[in-house]
Order: sequence, then structure tokens, then C-alpha cells
Amino acid sequence: MKVGIANDHSAVEMKNMVVDYLLEKGFEVVNYGTDSHESCHYPMYGEILGKAVASGEVDRGIAICGTGLGISLAANKVKGVRAALCSEPYTAKMSREHNNANILAFGARVIGIEMAKMIIDVWFEAEFLGGRHEERVNMIMEIEKNN
Ligand code: RB5
Repeated sequence: MKVGIANDHSAVEMKNMVVDYLLEKGFEVVNYGTDSHESCHYPMYGEILGKAVASGEVDRGIAICGTGLGISLAANKVKGVRAALCSEPYTAKMSREHNNANILAFGARVIGIEMAKMIIDVWFEAEFLGGRHEERVNMIMEIEKNN
């Protein structure tokens, strides 16, 4: 699986640790984030990652900023993106099983690398359950179409 990763200046170290972990796990990784600590604009990186996921350039995405909020809000503005901000594994699992999330977001200033690894493990293991959840996810995508 090809995973895109994007981050702002607050998450360079976390991004690097996550990339190493993903490579260890056998994923192919594309880095769309900044590698500089110079203050930058997270919406740019959320949009770039969102487009890469929505277009199929990568299969899934991981978005990291200070809180995970700004970059996930930006990614969610791209049609076809369902970015889930997760600070613990339960939400990460549900975001796949119920919401078919295609981007996982978290905050480099909120969680540590060990929690991030647990979240990543669960998020990539969990599968979308479909059924009634599919209808609800389709309703979300309809909102996007209509607004
Ligand atoms: C950058 O200081 C910070 O605002 C950003 O990383 C993020 O937390 C925004 O939501």
C-alpha cells in the first residue's frame, strides 16, 4: 500500500519517526510534507495530501500538524477526503470501520510516537464494515456534492 504523509513545521520529527515506522511495516511512503522547521501554512499541506488521496496517487494518507486539527480540516475540504483526527486507537479503529476514513490525522504536540504507532497499527488493520455504515458515508459525500 502506498501511503502519503504531510505535515507542517510543528511535526517534522514526528513525521520522520512515522515514516521510519511505516517503512519498517512494509508500506511505500510518499512525503508531501515540509522537512523544515520554518513556520509554514498547514492548509497547503492538507490540500496537497487531500488531492493525492482523492486522485488515487496514494492509497491512504497521514496528516500531522501541532494538534492535527488544521491540517485535517484543510484535507477534508478536498472532495472525496474523509480525514479523521485520532488521539487514541478506539477512534482510529472506528474511523475505518464506520466512517471509511482515508486520511488519518493526529497532533505532534498532543500524542507521543508510541501512541501514534498504536493508532497507525489499528488504523491500517481495520476494514470498512459497509452495510448501514456505507449508507451514512454516502450521505456525507452527498453533502459535499450539494454544497
Ligand atoms: C502551528 O503553530 C499550529 O497552529 C499548527 O500546527 C496546527 O496545530 C493547527 O491546527
